[in-house]
Amino acid sequence: MDTAHYSNDISAVIEADRAHLWHHLIQHKPFETIDPRIIVEGKGIRVWDARGKEHLDAVSGGVWTVNVGYGRESIANAVRDQLIKMNYFAGSAGSIPGARFAQRLIEKMPGMSRVYYSNSGSEANEKVFKMVRQIAHRHHGGKKWKILYRERDYHGTTITALSAGGQPERNGQYGPFTPGFVEVPHCLEYRSQYPHAADYGRAAADAIEAVILREGPDTIGAICLEPVTAGGGVITPPEGYWDRVQEICRKYNILIHIDEVVCGVGRTGEWFGYQHYGIKPDFVTMAKGVASGYAAISCTVTTEAVFEMFKDDASDPMGYFRDISTFGGCTAGPAAALENMRIIEDEGLLANTTAMGARLMGNLSALMDKHRAIGQVRGKGLFCGAELVADRSTKEPIAEKLAQAVVADCMAQGVIIGVTNRSIAGFNNTLCLSPALIATPDDIDEITTAIDGALGRVFG
Ligand SMILES: Cc1ncc(COP(=O)(O)O)c(C=O)c1O
Repeated sequence: MDTAHYSNDISAVIEADRAHLWHHLIQHKPFETIDPRIIVEGKGIRVWDARGKEHLDAVSGGVWTVNVGYGRESIANAVRDQLIKMNYFAGSAGSIPGARFAQRLIEKMPGMSRVYYSNSGSEANEKVFKMVRQIAHRHHGGKKWKILYRERDYHGTTITALSAGGQPERNGQYGPFTPGFVEVPHCLEYRSQYPHAADYGRAAADAIEAVILREGPDTIGAICLEPVTAGGGVITPPEGYWDRVQEICRKYNILIHIDEVVCGVGRTGEWFGYQHYGIKPDFVTMAKGVASGYAAISCTVTTEAVFEMFKDDASDPMGYFRDISTFGGCTAGPAAALENMRIIEDEGLLANTTAMGARLMGNLSALMDKHRAIGQVRGKGLFCGAELVADRSTKEPIAEKLAQAVVADCMAQGVIIGVTNRSIAGFNNTLCLSPALIATPDDIDEITTAIDGALGRVFG
């Protein structure tokens, strides 16, 4: 056995990292003088870094992923057993965990019917975009090829997923983009674009209809929306928004694609975020929480009606969904996802998420009395945001570096929180909290106590 990989000499690891690793989403110049962060261990809601410092992770692996917490031996065992029996075969064939997880998943999603496996949220969304385009070719005479997306939403990192991205700072310098993606306005009432609207939810949805009419309803095949916008500012929808969005989509025969990459699999206290709002989607995509990061898996879930559109003419050699994701055939993903789902059920984590989410929102709201820098708190379940402002009456956002100073102060205290980052220029000012669904009342209080201290130090 090559033992070099298991060296205890962490300084060699740090040097290897500094010399050869290209970290995600970060400027590397500072690593010439400071050490890159390396996380070496996790248990429950806590992680330890290379220096042995313990942290409470209030963002589930940095990007709201590790829903059931770290160190789950039962998931590791399920994956190990499956890999020894059968690790991989291309997705043109089925697998035992693949079929079983699809069945369990569909049980949680009344109205949905088919599961298509791939490896990342971006890829799951791309599958929908391809399906919509193929439906346009096969069933609408080439019309209905455009896809609507919303300002502030994010759907992934590939060029086409960025084409559906409503966060200009994520997209900047990566164009030109894929044609046929059209933006609709965001629905964040705190940053109201319709100050005179009596019914904000309706006004925000009507803004979508205005775009549809401008583009021509016969050009638009689908709309892709996050149920609660994540990295764009933790935006919960205003009252009545989704009812009206669905009414509009039905009117113009536009398919609804809900991106549950963040909200899916328990994060908001329901299995899926859309289930809070009575949405009847045609497509649902999910990734992060599906296996809590124990294996790479994403799912594109469709209704049977969508699926039928790809098998209506078996004599047409081009008529089925001619797509493959090589690693969508890995069995580790569904094996981990099955055990992940069992844990959520057996440990009552949906109920815990609702209860702990209410505590988190309550604690954050209480901090508003003390810290005028908090302009608004928003959230659903264990997915919360606190928007920081320089002035409550004008709602002027605080400078980005101050929001980052709050995050850095919490980190120094041993609590990892997030902040919207390189999404919308001038509006990277929302603290983000998404602890594992196993969080206890003490964990929640520890998170908000750290934020309380940080706000006091940063804003005085
Ligand atoms: C809402 C949403 N959709 C899609 C993605 C892309 O997922 P992935 O990074 O797995 O490609 C993300 C990633 O953060 C996301 O937040």
